[in-house]
Amino acid sequence: MIKIKDLEIHGKTFLAPLAGITNLPFRQLVKECGCAVVCSEMVSAKGIFYNSKNTLTLMTSQAAERPLSVQLFGSEPESMAQAATFVEEMGVADIIDINFGCSVKKVVKQGAGVALMKEPKTSEAVLRAVRKATTLPLTIKIRSGWDGSGLQAFALADIAQDAGVDAIVLHPRTAAQGFKGLANWDHIQQLKETLTIPVIGNGDINSVEDAARMFAQTGCDAIMVGRAAMSNPYLLSQIEEYVNKGTYKEPKPDEIFRKMERLIDLYVAYFGEAHAARMLRGRLAWFVKGLPGCSSFRRDLAQIETSGQAMDLIKAYETPNED
Ligand SMILES: Cc1cc2nc3c(=O)[nH]c(=O)nc-3n(C[C@H](O)[C@H](O)[C@H](O)COP(=O)(O)O)c2cc1C
Repeated sequence: MIKIKDLEIHGKTFLAPLAGITNLPFRQLVKECGCAVVCSEMVSAKGIFYNSKNTLTLMTSQAAERPLSVQLFGSEPESMAQAATFVEEMGVADIIDINFGCSVKKVVKQGAGVALMKEPKTSEAVLRAVRKATTLPLTIKIRSGWDGSGLQAFALADIAQDAGVDAIVLHPRTAAQGFKGLANWDHIQQLKETLTIPVIGNGDINSVEDAARMFAQTGCDAIMVGRAAMSNPYLLSQIEEYVNKGTYKEPKPDEIFRKMERLIDLYVAYFGEAHAARMLRGRLAWFVKGLPGCSSFRRDLAQIETSGQAMDLIKAYETPNED
């Protein structure tokens, strides 16, 4: 169990915020497989200020997925504080997280995401304003910084801890790296050595063994998984099982197929039939990675127009015609 402020977290796994991916249905799926904390896609503080329908939709939630971390991005202390108050009043979030890691152009251009890591004064002002605006547990998600030394991450983490931030997630790649190269887990270990608040390690966990290695190598309090959960929604539950028992099970193919059907239902309920069918063409394809015959399944999946067609394809794939 780890504690972030007064929130007791029963488990050691966080589903990473993934813009365009960790919508409510995907979070529900991963939570149903087993995972301690799920995170929303990043939410624009300005979008909240302008009452943008798309922005507010990103914060649709369900009781069963809690605890939920809602991630905000922005660079103005005042609008970030207002956004934090708004999120707290909505009553959907158990944690507010601030994005200091996004390197996408449209975010960096407004001085937000990883651009904040170059601006310790603005970062501190944002953190102090948000801390004042909410009583919810507050976390930040950072990168190593602009160069490979990690010094910007350590400096920002100190500022954050002083400002009352309750935990820090580190994805130890530089801004310029994007997703290239390897995450430098030494930075996670160094951060853990200097802070008293919990440190959550993130970056390049693709298997249970990777997670075990990150815990052992860095001493981090919890781990966060992003991309690998897209093709294996069971990964976080397998990591939890391994942490608790020292062993874990691989899901059987029929369990994977049932989860794919579950995702179809969740997507249709959330996005509506037509939109869900279009999105599922890509999403369902992730889950069959490595299964025999997956390329023709994927080819057929790319053509679907309805969720019923996706269901039929799964049935046909599961019980191939013997003739
Ligand atoms: C498609 C995609 C969307 C992402 N969106 C966000 C986001 O909204 N907020 C954020 O802090 N990080 C975001 N990230 C970064 C991930 O949360 C995570 O830090 C990164 O993928 C490294 O972890 P991994 O190796 O487990 O994927 C995104 C990454 C990807 C691939």
